[in-house]
Amino acid sequence: MEFQLIRHGVIDSTSERAFESLADGSAIHGDVHLARGQTAGRGRRGRSWHSAPDEGIYMSVVLLPGPPALKPTALTIAVGLAVVEALNELGLAPYSDRAPRLKWPNDVLVQGAKICGILTESRALDLDQPHYVVGLGLNLRQLHFPAELRAERPVTSLALLGIEAEADQVCDVILARLGSRLEQVRRDHRRLAEDYLDASDLRDHWVKVESGQETQFGRVCGLSLSEGLELEVPSGEPTTLPLEFIRSLEPLSEPGSGSQDSLG
Ligand code: BTN
Repeated sequence: MEFQLIRHGVIDSTSERAFESLADGSAIHGDVHLARGQTAGRGRRGRSWHSAPDEGIYMSVVLLPGPPALKPTALTIAVGLAVVEALNELGLAPYSDRAPRLKWPNDVLVQGAKICGILTESRALDLDQPHYVVGLGLNLRQLHFPAELRAERPVTSLALLGIEAEADQVCDVILARLGSRLEQVRRDHRRLAEDYLDASDLRDHWVKVESGQETQFGRVCGLSLSEGLELEVPSGEPTTLPLEFIRSLEPLSEPGSGSQDSLG
């Protein structure tokens, strides 16, 4: 897959620019909007994304994959895996305590602290001509984070992990991994799901899942990007939770325990 880099200075939001290009018809599959900084960077659930100039990677990828429409969660998973691979290539050892891990569905963590967030969006999705904007924010040079951000969760950056890298280099490494991961969404989603279970440490783990209006506890037996998350609930019954209904997923230290191993 080819990517076209579109560079911006400090703008409101790379995802907003991507949506503008979709609205005016100039967007091409594989456009990558990359900004030095953002004044209105946004995260999941209406949160803002701290986007100080030259401190992080702020990029949004336009995807026009043609029908059938894809599941946003599958795209988020594919991009998350590409980021994990890129971080390993940049020097975070895959099998050490510095191995980057994925936290459902869109966070990349190192040693329990968030280093990258991913936000997949579409607006008024036309199933005959599906479009997606996948926004990715990665902490690069920050040595300090605002107190309100640290109060929410542990956060880290490549610099804090002792890795000095240029934004362009990090971008190149991510994009080099992204193409094949995005192709797996259509061509090999079983492999994508297996790799996700490995990179998130969820396989066989007990979890608490908020799905729709319900809270489910169970042991993760599998993941199917078409069917959903496969759980064995405490009664021994198998249950499959469709991905689009899963609002949160937290690992538990043991079956039915209220205490959670917080990943971030
Ligand atoms: C999250 O973890 O909540 C997702 C954060 C996504 C932030 C990125 S930065 C580039 C792109 N532009 C935005 O406004 N948001 C995404």
